Amino acid sequence: MAKKTWNWGILGCGHIADKFAADLKFAGQAHLAAVASRSAAKASAFASRFGVARAYDSYEELASDPDLDIIYIATPHSHHHRHALLCLDQHKAVLCEKAFALNSAQVSQMIDSARRNNAFLMEAFWTRFHPSFVEALRMIQSGELGRLRMVRADFGFRGNQDPQGRLYNLSLGGGSLLDVGIYPVFTALCALGVPETIQAMAIFAPTGADQTLAVNFKYADGSMASLSSSVAFWAPVQAEFWLEKGFIRLNRQFNAPTTLTVCREGGAEQLMNFPAVPGYGYTAEAEHVMDCLDKGLVESPVLPLSFSADLMSTLDRIRAAAGIVYPEAEAR
Ligand SMILES: NC(=O)c1ccc[n+]([C@@H]2O[C@H](COP(=O)([O-])OP(=O)(O)OC[C@H]3O[C@@H](n4cnc5c(N)ncnc54)[C@H](OP(=O)(O)O)[C@@H]3O)[C@@H](O)[C@H]2O)c1
Repeated sequence: MAKKTWNWGILGCGHIADKFAADLKFAGQAHLAAVASRSAAKASAFASRFGVARAYDSYEELASDPDLDIIYIATPHSHHHRHALLCLDQHKAVLCEKAFALNSAQVSQMIDSARRNNAFLMEAFWTRFHPSFVEALRMIQSGELGRLRMVRADFGFRGNQDPQGRLYNLSLGGGSLLDVGIYPVFTALCALGVPETIQAMAIFAPTGADQTLAVNFKYADGSMASLSSSVAFWAPVQAEFWLEKGFIRLNRQFNAPTTLTVCREGGAEQLMNFPAVPGYGYTAEAEHVMDCLDKGLVESPVLPLSFSADLMSTLDRIRAAAGIVYPEAEAR
């Protein structure tokens, strides 16, 4: 029997929305039916680029479009909470970009709303669906290299330093933590869980955004993680897992890895190649959402809401340790 076609909407027509729209074409069950921007001209231009039938100049109109099943939220971190609630209240399934929100209070409200409205909600953490990332987790969990003792991961790039831009503007959740530091933190949580102890230090930009961040985790079983991020300079963007009998490295860029290096105790490094994922690499997360909906699920078993809640509470603890504050979110 042919599988159902799911009608998608995209909320916010920025940089990542463009890539996601391009990748949806590779997902057989997906039909991009509508997009919305704060600007009518931008929405129309986006819609004509991707052959989309409906272009709205208001997010509210998109959320209330009765023909849409799933809405992908592609606005800055600071607006995910508001826009997720807008869509969930219309009983839409929601795939919301990372970082899920600015703090745990916002994430709790999003989860409550999804449960109240019996609507699907998932954080768009594409890394979790990449075959090499999945294989690294499988190898760690299998115990074939002994116990995992250390995770080392970094993500740095030289971002646009416009003080009003999303990367450096605190009112948009600017700084390295929520934009790229979240990847190393996510990886440590996937591999080791929520840490017992957190240390963190930041270098701040004049805007107050954390430009560069160093974080250490310690776990009750004696394992550790050493994580770093920056929006001011380039870094290897690799993740390493050090185990008792060898190490595994997700090679650059580990947020969308295509190769894995494994080194067993006393042996040489072995490179494992994985088949290229289509497009930019966002198809698998979209397919996963539709697979969950096919099965009548309101939550992903691979990326459950409890994981996103743990991730955000860990980010909150890092912020507290490093002195990172988003004043507008704190004031509410
Ligand atoms: N998964 C990934 O690989 C990945 C990669 C990049 C970014 N992201 C995530 O995606 C989100 C968006 O990032 P982006 O790089 O696409 O940002 P962007 O290019 O700045 O686009 C964000 C869009 O949000 C909308 N928006 C609504 N209110 C806004 C406001 N007050 N200020 C600015 N924009 C506003 C705008 O769309 P309209 O003008 O059309 O309304 C804007 O184009 C972030 O949360 C980021 O972490 C994920």
